[in-house]
Amino acid sequence: MSETTTLNIVILAAGQGTRMKSSMPKVLHSVACKPLVQHVIDTSKKLNPETINVVYGHGGEQVQQQINDSEINWVLQAEQLGTGHAVDQVKDQLKDNQLVLILYGDVPLIKEETLNNLLGQAKDGFSLLTVKLNKPQGYGRIVRDENGLVKNITEEKDASEEIKKISEVNTGILAVKAELLKKWLSQLDNNNAQQEYYLTDIIAMAVKDGYTVETTQPDNEYEVMGVNNRMQLAELERHYQNEQANKLMQGGVTLADPSRIDIRGTLTHGQDISIDINVVFEGNVSIGSNVSIGANCVIKDSKIADGVTILPMSVLDNVSVGNNSKVGPFARLRPGAVLSADTHVGNFVEIKKSFVGAGSKINHLTYVGDSIVGKNVNIGAGTITCNYDGANKHQTVIEDNVFVGSATQLVAPVKIGKNATVGAGSTITTDVAADELAITRVKQKSILGWKRPVKTEKQD
Ligand code: UD1
Ligand code: CA
Repeated sequence: MSETTTLNIVILAAGQGTRMKSSMPKVLHSVACKPLVQHVIDTSKKLNPETINVVYGHGGEQVQQQINDSEINWVLQAEQLGTGHAVDQVKDQLKDNQLVLILYGDVPLIKEETLNNLLGQAKDGFSLLTVKLNKPQGYGRIVRDENGLVKNITEEKDASEEIKKISEVNTGILAVKAELLKKWLSQLDNNNAQQEYYLTDIIAMAVKDGYTVETTQPDNEYEVMGVNNRMQLAELERHYQNEQANKLMQGGVTLADPSRIDIRGTLTHGQDISIDINVVFEGNVSIGSNVSIGANCVIKDSKIADGVTILPMSVLDNVSVGNNSKVGPFARLRPGAVLSADTHVGNFVEIKKSFVGAGSKINHLTYVGDSIVGKNVNIGAGTITCNYDGANKHQTVIEDNVFVGSATQLVAPVKIGKNATVGAGSTITTDVAADELAITRVKQKSILGWKRPVKTEKQD
């Protein structure tokens, strides 16, 4: 784009999407946990446009509420009278010297590079993104003249048998100078099979006015695929995930099966990472180098340092795991769990809003919540920090080198001093001083001649 031309993007999102069979507007359905229209908005922003205009209709309030982005100019199309009519609603906002890019809220995977190619070709007035399909049925066909120049677009419903054989189709995505767009929009009519104002009719007008319609193609068909039903939604999800998987492998990540990983957000990573099957990443996750992640883990908004091993079936949400630590199998790290280097968190251990110092081990069947755990602490199986008194949450502090015996309850607020030991099966309700042994068990005794109860006859 030349420096003087500013870019204005129009995203059409007024369609009902009846085939989704949903009470939610189509463009709010998600690919990789992100609404379809949000994908288009995010890609739009990469192009540094002056304005992003979203044409909404059906369910518009819901769309505005969920997208909630002050940079967007929302434009109502009260009645859906066709794609040309939809763009016409934005007309008044466009200044003559601007360039207008038309995108679709239900075509989520269009790429920045493809759009940059398209915009680069629009300098002379008009460029159109087309694609050759093995099955062009349903799409508007690109009709070219004997010199190969675009003549018009003929919609499937208006097409002759001869035209239906054309495999090059209109993606609907185009870039055009605003003054030309405005002029041609005012000339549209709805004399066609669907009685709609077709945006595509402006192509024939451009040709008539002596403009050459440049065309460019995307690298991948799925970039221009739209979502009309849930099968297509699932198909695009797989294309998207496949692309993420390829990027990971190119970046030094080994995937046990690239078709069994899901990235619903952003995953940044180092090298030599191996990820087993069925791992789901959500939000912003960063992984260091030499990390191994076992099967069936769900990891959300977390930071995993170098050399970490996460064993199968672990769930991590808003946590940080320090260098060379080992987590799982079956561990649940909840928001605010911060594990320092060389920690071990084993099976059926739940940690919430707690700091765990370097080298500490919490290996079996334990709940640690609202706690500060020092260095080289060993927490035995079945330990529970009783952080909640039914009304308020309280903190447990366990200082360096503490040993907590199995099946212990630490009733917060409570502090276990440095090097202290807590005997197994204790219920600790008051602070334990450094180096002490605290034990609350009743002394074991034997009762001679004691008999187990015998089952009595049933009495009704
Ligand atoms: C359109 C193109 C067709 C192209 C196809 C690619 C026209 C006339 N036809 O056909 O050449 O091959 O896309 O998928 O442009 N919309 C509105 N308001 C309206 C009508 C539509 O916002 O009044 C939005 C829809 O929400 C949808 C998009 O525009 O996102 C496309 O509309 P649709 O009616 O599905 O056009 P197609 O028949 O698919
Ligand atoms: Ca469509």
